[in-house]
Amino acid sequence: MKLFLDTADIDEIRTAVRWGVIDGVTTNPSLYARVGGSYDDVLREICKLTPGPVSAEVIADDVEGMLAEGRHFAKLAPNIVVKVAMSENGLEAISRFAEEGIKTNCTLIFSANQGLLAAKAGASLLSPFVGRLDDINEEGMTVIRELADIINLHDFDSEVLAASVRHPRHVTDAALAGAHVATLPFKVLRQMVHHPLTDSGIVQFKADWAKARAEVAAKG
Ligand code: G3P
Repeated sequence: MKLFLDTADIDEIRTAVRWGVIDGVTTNPSLYARVGGSYDDVLREICKLTPGPVSAEVIADDVEGMLAEGRHFAKLAPNIVVKVAMSENGLEAISRFAEEGIKTNCTLIFSANQGLLAAKAGASLLSPFVGRLDDINEEGMTVIRELADIINLHDFDSEVLAASVRHPRHVTDAALAGAHVATLPFKVLRQMVHHPLTDSGIVQFKADWAKARAEVAAKG
């Protein structure tokens, strides 16, 4: 299973890349708004930090506008994946990008059927939003499970990417539900590293080591 970082923050990406656990990055307009500056520059920098796919989201609502923005992004770096929101025009743009050999990530997916359509149109990544479904009292993980089953059963090339991940349990559940990828806020990635027993265990080992060394030194 691949793990992407869901951020446009360069420092967070640098840190996660150093840990050796990150296979790509997803950005969106809200994440970009938190860091500001030139979106192109941010994307170029991220693409230098990771060789994996980096999703850059188009804003236009019309097909030609989406195509123009996506073609522009695709020229910034070879690992750019153009992110397109699920819609009638979005599907058309995804299928046109596929014809041009430009990879896409279909975002704002909330049902297995929307994911199936995006796969049919040729999206490489299908992004169901788990947390936002949970927010409205639905079961986000059901969409991940159903879509992963559909993709595997019918041998689509697309990968299911669990997005809108809010806590570490989402990552475990997405992995068990068959998601090929999960994209995580840095906070969730960091939460995955830690466990209270690991942290207290490290403190205890250090204390015992220091005590033992002090005793050895005192003896002589
Ligand atoms: O990957 C999509 C993600 O950024 C949305 O997350 O927490 O705003 O629903 P959230």
